[in-house]
Amino acid sequence: MKKNYTAQELNSMSNDDLARLGTELDEVTVAYRKERFPVPNDPAEKRAARGISIWLVIGIVAAIAFLGVYLFWPWQYQGHGDENLGMFTLYTPLLGLTSGISILALGFACVLYVQRIIPEEISVQRRHDGPSDEVDRRTVTALLNDAWTTSTLGRRKAMKGLLGAAGVLAGLVVIAPLGGMVKNPWKRGEMTYHGDGTLWTSGWTLHENGVKLYLARDTGAIAEEHSGPTGTHFTTAGVSRLVRVRPEDLDAGGMDTVFPLAAEDVNDGDLYDPQRDVYENHMHSIHGPRNAVMLIRLRTADAERVIEREGQEDFHYGDYYAYSKICTHVGCPTSLYEQQTNRILCPCHQSQFDALQYGKPVFGPAARALPQLPITVDEEGYLVAGGNFIEPLGPAFWERRS
Ligand code: FES
Repeated sequence: MKKNYTAQELNSMSNDDLARLGTELDEVTVAYRKERFPVPNDPAEKRAARGISIWLVIGIVAAIAFLGVYLFWPWQYQGHGDENLGMFTLYTPLLGLTSGISILALGFACVLYVQRIIPEEISVQRRHDGPSDEVDRRTVTALLNDAWTTSTLGRRKAMKGLLGAAGVLAGLVVIAPLGGMVKNPWKRGEMTYHGDGTLWTSGWTLHENGVKLYLARDTGAIAEEHSGPTGTHFTTAGVSRLVRVRPEDLDAGGMDTVFPLAAEDVNDGDLYDPQRDVYENHMHSIHGPRNAVMLIRLRTADAERVIEREGQEDFHYGDYYAYSKICTHVGCPTSLYEQQTNRILCPCHQSQFDALQYGKPVFGPAARALPQLPITVDEEGYLVAGGNFIEPLGPAFWERRS
């Protein structure tokens, strides 16, 4: 079979000729081909086109509904008893439902188009290796043109528009949710247990606003069941999730995880009031993304070998050292403290930090020391923060200087 066509010869061929040539050159044999609607204006063709258009319209409506729900539905978290709980509960199912319908409907329309409109054809092709040459590339283009012509989409203006709109909207259904991840990292909000919304603040930053912060342990306490004349109900009044810690609560060589607890949220010891409900605030502190701190009590013999970091010499209280629990590699909790070696281990990628040397990394991918929290003891004997961390917590980001 002739394969070497000059550009002139190729230019002189019509699209049909090129498409036929392409089929032959590809060693494709069309075993069977039948037009679906050989007679113009066949009512069956109109029915088929209508069925496809209905699916496309369903896809478009569902995609618009998805975007409407995504942009305007009340999505802010609502707890039990809150007024908008019903609407909030529907948010995620509605997103799933509308996006699912829009993509499925577009899929149905495409399948129906191929089944009902594109000519029925069975072709057989031999496989061959090697790169395509010029003639193949030209003929493939011609075949694609031919496919466009035989699809009859060119003359079906309405369906072409619908297909385009459905395709674009289905794409938006996939892309739009990424917008929710766009966040301005410099935008400051109110300072709370979560910091002020910027990466370099945490619940411990409240100390800079003059708030006295206790080092508090999570008791894991949950809502309590109460029975009364009105029946049984659960209440968090009097439930203290966080309780203050004293030095003697920790054995030598021991470790505990502590969170910031503002003086006004204390509800334990001699300040305990069974009517006060501080549960929600305690949970905010526990859930603050950079709040977790490891409180370590070194064994006295080990404490004598400690090498302090310059500028942090007075951050410890006796044998007690407090390091951020957020790994400086990519932010996992460095939850393991190995008493014999005084090493802090991050289970994510095996970074190790030396508790005797200001949390300096000694193994693994972490490149910076764990930030150390200045601590002391107040007049009542509870451990309190002596200040805020002096460097940002967690993994690197471009603004951090240390
Ligand atoms: S996050 Fe800790 S080692 Fe990677």
